[in-house]
Amino acid sequence: MTEQTANGAPEQERVLIFDTTLRDGEQSPGATMTLTEKLEVATLLDEMGVDIIEAGFPIASEGDFEAVREISKVVKNAVVCGLARAGAKDIDRAWEALQGARRARIHTFISTSPLHMKYKLQMEPEEVLEAIARSVSHARSLTDDVQWSPEDGTRTEHDFLCRAVETAIKAGATTINIPDTVGYTAPGESAALIRMLKERVPDIDKVVISTHCHNDLGMAVANALAAVEAGARQVECTINGLGERAGNAALEEVVMAMRVRNDIMPWRTGVDTTKIMQASRLVSRITGFPVQYNKAIVGKNAFAHESGIHQDGMLKHAGTYEIMRPEDVGLTASNLVMGKHSGRNALRAKLRELGFELGDNQLNDVFVRFKALADQKKEVYDEDLLALMTEMHSDA
Ligand code: KIV
Ligand code: ZN
Repeated sequence: MTEQTANGAPEQERVLIFDTTLRDGEQSPGATMTLTEKLEVATLLDEMGVDIIEAGFPIASEGDFEAVREISKVVKNAVVCGLARAGAKDIDRAWEALQGARRARIHTFISTSPLHMKYKLQMEPEEVLEAIARSVSHARSLTDDVQWSPEDGTRTEHDFLCRAVETAIKAGATTINIPDTVGYTAPGESAALIRMLKERVPDIDKVVISTHCHNDLGMAVANALAAVEAGARQVECTINGLGERAGNAALEEVVMAMRVRNDIMPWRTGVDTTKIMQASRLVSRITGFPVQYNKAIVGKNAFAHESGIHQDGMLKHAGTYEIMRPEDVGLTASNLVMGKHSGRNALRAKLRELGFELGDNQLNDVFVRFKALADQKKEVYDEDLLALMTEMHSDA
């Protein structure tokens, strides 16, 4: 619903951020986290203003149960969510783990695609519909906040998906999440699927529609944003895009895309973006998964500039080559990386930063030496420049 702000401008629609770093993210091979580490991540996610934290899959192991139970106790603002398959035992276990939470959600799911129903579940479609009705009503008998997901939703036949979603809503689901489990969809199709559900499923306007995209074809964030454009109001994502195989939609990319391109994506989230770098570094340190240098938003090079033309532009106006401010994601400043592509102006600025104010002749002299050095090195560090200045003074 669009409301008015105090100054009369329309209040932008809120998109809920559902973080699943601790559940789907942790399912990434090698990304296992200890209880203490999970508590650290959950606390930061809560401070950042994430709306829902999926803390784990309580029936999966004692460790997962314990993690959801302890996270439930420390989270102050976010809804804490536990995952469960469609059986009563799974759902009861999730609910038990969530007992200490101020606000708790049960997230239950079952596969609905022909491939999954036939080979994985070995169930007939009608049996799957019965399981949906049973599981969702059971979860709803325990809590008012029930999320239901058709696993492999984007490869599910539309008629059956509509029937499955309708069944879940009738049984009491309050959020319907559509997973692109194998990262198969594309933005146009992702949007069309949400529109199709909104047109065909009775009472779908009474629930929150959510999108959960995997990144197998590198389109998770684009698919999630396309789903929001079509009416989804919850995005499931993870810090650094951590997740099974190629990962999930990256939280930092989804949130910053909505912020930077708010002119064409007019939705707001509750996330304090200045905590993004901290969260990225924390998850990377804990899991031991490095963040690729050129990763959008949080990569080492995301705010770094080496080419002379770009550095010159940056020194004149940051907007020339940056579409967001480093401070907005929690960095102190952009990084002018000194290398063989750097120009005279950047060298002058860098030397000034290091305490050397040079005249034109001196600068020309250093510049020649700097270029010779840069040709031999990937990056010229501050220490290299200091050594170069000492060498110049002793030659003089
Ligand atoms: O990718 C997926 O289908 C999931 C579901 C459990 C929501 O993670
Ligand atoms: Zn998933």
